[in-house]
Amino acid sequence: MSADILRAVEILGNGEVIAIPTETVYGLAANAYNDEAVQKIFAIKNRPSYNPLIIHCASVEVASEFAEISPQAELIFSNFSPGAMTLILPLKANSLIAESALAGLQTVAVRIPKHPFAYELLQALPYPLAAPSANLSGRLSPTQASHCASLGVEVFDGGTSELGLESTILDASTQEISLLRHGSIPIEAIESKLGKICHNIEADNVSPKSPGQLLKHYAPNLPLALDVEVPQAGDAYIGFGAMEHECFRNLSPSGDLTEAARNLFAYLREADTSGASRIAVAPITGGGLAITICDRLKRAIS
Ligand code: TXA
Ligand code: MG
Repeated sequence: MSADILRAVEILGNGEVIAIPTETVYGLAANAYNDEAVQKIFAIKNRPSYNPLIIHCASVEVASEFAEISPQAELIFSNFSPGAMTLILPLKANSLIAESALAGLQTVAVRIPKHPFAYELLQALPYPLAAPSANLSGRLSPTQASHCASLGVEVFDGGTSELGLESTILDASTQEISLLRHGSIPIEAIESKLGKICHNIEADNVSPKSPGQLLKHYAPNLPLALDVEVPQAGDAYIGFGAMEHECFRNLSPSGDLTEAARNLFAYLREADTSGASRIAVAPITGGGLAITICDRLKRAIS
């Protein structure tokens, strides 16, 4: 086991919180069975207590200790895990998951991450990890170790998150599977395996199925304008594809959505501290990851 994994195991064992790399975004992790440790995550992030956390574990077998795994859930895990897939599942009656991580729900969000550090750490631990994205509540998600520096916890550097957008969340707690959050696994990839699924993405002011989705999210400090084809003076202009106007950054000069997804949060952070008066983002169109990118950008201004 590497020295970093041993150190992470030790800090978590003391009931403390650490920032860890995952392939989607960096997470702020604590022992999911230790309520006091989980509460520290809420305090550090300034996260409302009604917003539950994703429980990360190394295998479906571990997840079955606290969640009911239906044959359908098993099928989804076998297709998409380890990876950027989070499933909402019924909570087992005798589960040891900390109350505060569940925010009073009878369901639990489960993900098996793929990043070698997160995966090896979970294999080394005798408990799962509760981990939201390692950003202040409502703010831009972290895709590099440096993005987590201000949180006051030890950060384990695993390089730039390969995917750059959070996991896709499916509700598998009921008979009919539904999509609760667009994410790094595009809906087309899921539907090609499972057939057409119901989209239950929260708009504002409906009863929350996925409580965090109601909040303003992923927001930079500067004003943000979307679908901007002609930037104004003072804009930090973020392009996509071949651009006519000069850009502060280009998410992907070749128009590659995977590259754009990986760069999105880092470029928004850079634009935010560039001294510009506004961040302006060029149109990003299409299916697949374009849907997730546009979802994040819309929530950032809502
Ligand atoms: O990629 C990811 O999913 C990252 C990495 C660190 O794993 N994590 C992440 O966590 O994005 P967070 O806390 O930023 O977003 C989790 C979302 C929230 O919107 C929360 O409301 C929802 O998952 N959630 C958690 N438990 C739930 C449950 N039982 N039912 C419905 N939604 C739930
Ligand atoms: Mg988050």
